[in-house]
Amino acid sequence: MRGNFITLEGIDGAGKSTHLDWLADFFRKRGVKLRVTREPGGTELGEKLRGLLLDKNQPMHLETEAMLMFAARREHIDKVIAPALAQGEWIICDRFTDATFAYQGSGRGADWARLKVLEQWVQGDLQPDLTLLFDVAPEVGRQRAGSIKAPDRFEQEKNDFFQRVRDGYLRRAREDASRMRVIDATVSIEEIRRKLVEIVEPLCP
Ligand code: ADP
Ligand code: TYD
Repeated sequence: MRGNFITLEGIDGAGKSTHLDWLADFFRKRGVKLRVTREPGGTELGEKLRGLLLDKNQPMHLETEAMLMFAARREHIDKVIAPALAQGEWIICDRFTDATFAYQGSGRGADWARLKVLEQWVQGDLQPDLTLLFDVAPEVGRQRAGSIKAPDRFEQEKNDFFQRVRDGYLRRAREDASRMRVIDATVSIEEIRRKLVEIVEPLCP
């Protein structure tokens, strides 16, 4: 049986990493064979593309940025995601295509319809079974992320950029409400965990 494909999304500082580690532990304790991966990245080539994409000394056209995200994703699906799911392994992925719509689409201004063409080209029918969107205001994300010593190309953006990114995520969630669950991530970590258990427990074997 095909494994479950779960993605985590949210603006920088929303709490994805915190919840990802905890969720991975939660599933493994229930006997799920699980692989944790991330985007951009997850393969040797994808990690090289990630280096270019996050390098603040490497400016690029917004469509170049969008296409590189999808190029890394194509590789990731082919080498990691599809084979693992086919063998019944579960995947938890730290960001996926919703991030491209939110950051490159809403944040940078890349055309939403063109991104949909790329999504169809690269993914075909493949979509996550569940996407957890950790939603916070940009000010909260920035405060939580703290004073990052060497901010990357995205982290150096201003609050208005992250507000557009947040709006982009919420638009995706409205467009695909059955897949995406919006989680109010301003409440305590414990409260969020209780909510996560409610959402993911029914998926467990
Ligand atoms: P992300 O991976 O989304 O960038 P992190 O998981 O690294 O965010 O969280 C950023 C910081 O915020 C960490 O120090 C984490 O402990 C803290 N944090 C995460 N969620 C919450 C929360 N619900 N309430 C308070 N602090 C939080
Ligand atoms: P991530 O590793 O999640 O950063 P962090 O752990 O600091 O939150 O993601 C790296 C950055 O890449 C993040 O700022 C969002 C950005 N990104 C896009 O702009 N588009 C995409 O499609 C993806 C997957 C990530």
